[in-house]
Formats: sequence, C-alpha cells, structure tokens
Amino acid sequence: MAIFLDSGDLKQVRRFMKMGVIRGVTTNPTILCKDGCRGGMKGLKKLETEIASLIKPFPLSVEVTSNDKKEMLDQAIEFSGWAENIVIKIPVHGPEGESVNMEVIHQLESRHDVRVNVTALMSAQQGLLAALAGASYVSIFGGRVNDMGHDCAEEIGKLRDLLDVFELKAKIIVGSTREISNVVEWLDAGAHFVTVVPRLLEGMLVHPYTKETVRMFLADARKLKIKR
Ligand code: E4P
Repeated sequence: MAIFLDSGDLKQVRRFMKMGVIRGVTTNPTILCKDGCRGGMKGLKKLETEIASLIKPFPLSVEVTSNDKKEMLDQAIEFSGWAENIVIKIPVHGPEGESVNMEVIHQLESRHDVRVNVTALMSAQQGLLAALAGASYVSIFGGRVNDMGHDCAEEIGKLRDLLDVFELKAKIIVGSTREISNVVEWLDAGAHFVTVVPRLLEGMLVHPYTKETVRMFLADARKLKIKR
C-alpha cells in the first residue's frame, strides 16, 4: 500500500517507477488536459495503455468522460479492456447530484467484473455508500475537504473504521494533495493510499538540510584522497 502518482505525465511515471516508490497511478480529465493528452479517444487510449504497461501489475485509474448512464457503462467496459490493471473512476454522483452513478458503480463491480474507483468523495458518508455499492477503491479529495474548512484526516479515520467494522473490500485513496505533510498525515489517519502529484512527491524526497549534509560529507571525503 502507500503511494500512487497523481499524473498523466509519462516521464514522471517512468521516473518514480524507477525509484520503486509508487504502487499505482491515478488520472482524471483535468490531470490529462494539464499533462497534454491530445487526439481524442485514440490519444487517451494510447497514453493510458502506455502508463498501464509501464506500471503493471500496479493499478491505473482511468476516469469516464461522461455522466450519461449508458456512456459511463460503455466507456467503463471499453477502458477496462485496454489493460488488466486499469481501474475505472466513476464520480460518486453527477454534476446535479444524479444518483444514477451509484447504479453504474454497483453494476460494473457486480455484473461486469470491472474494478471501480469511486471518485470526488468529500465525506465518510459518501465513501461508505460507495463501498456498500461494491467499489474497489474510494477516493476522498483531501485538499478540497480541507479547503471547505473540514478535517480530512477525521473523515479518513471515520471511513476506515467503518470499512474495517463492516469488512468492506474498498480501499481508501486520498487525493487532492496540497502540501507535502498531507501524505504521511493522511496515511497515518487510515488511508490505504495517498495519490500524490509529482511536485509534492519530489518535495517529500529532497530536504535542504540533507543537501547541506551531503555537501559536507563529499567535501570531507575529498580530503581522504580515496583514489580508484
Ligand atoms: C485523484 O486522483 C483526484 O482526482 C485528484 O487528486 C484531485 O485533485 P484536485 O483536488 O487538486 O483537483
């Protein structure tokens, strides 16, 4: 468990896979636009299948691009057929609160053997319903929860307790990272995974005092005159 990379940037996916520090990748339409996904469905399939191949057997979350029931079902079945490790992201409800999404989630998991990552969750309540519907992953947007003045860590803890007590299979992913401290804080609160943008994952690694300490080691190492 632990860290997913929240990115559609192939270079970043390669980079952090080589370090061995990520256990999957999450994408969404906003991330894909920012990371330069072009070419419509053909471009989406090319990028997502390349990422899936780079990280297998780790999971790659690919989000549907419609909130129409039939289109969500069709896309979910099509996208999941692109690679064995593709998980389908479905928002917990539509832009006007449409509950049809929950039917789609339940149908995909129970009848189509498609693994679903229910996304855009803002509360433990939403996460519980998504898990009861059969979701494989439930994604809480931690940064957005905190932006609203609520405590994401509290929501994570409540949801984790409920999943454990009711023995529900769903794993908690917390996304919407805003600060380096989010990762350890949200894992400590009970998240199975935190999906982290590349900038913050880099920030977790590089520390100014470590840079100063290593400079000191190398300066003194040179004084030892260790020759090859
Ligand atoms: C998870 O993959 C979410 O889609 C993503 O982290 C959302 O982040 P944002 O709230 O910064 O858009």
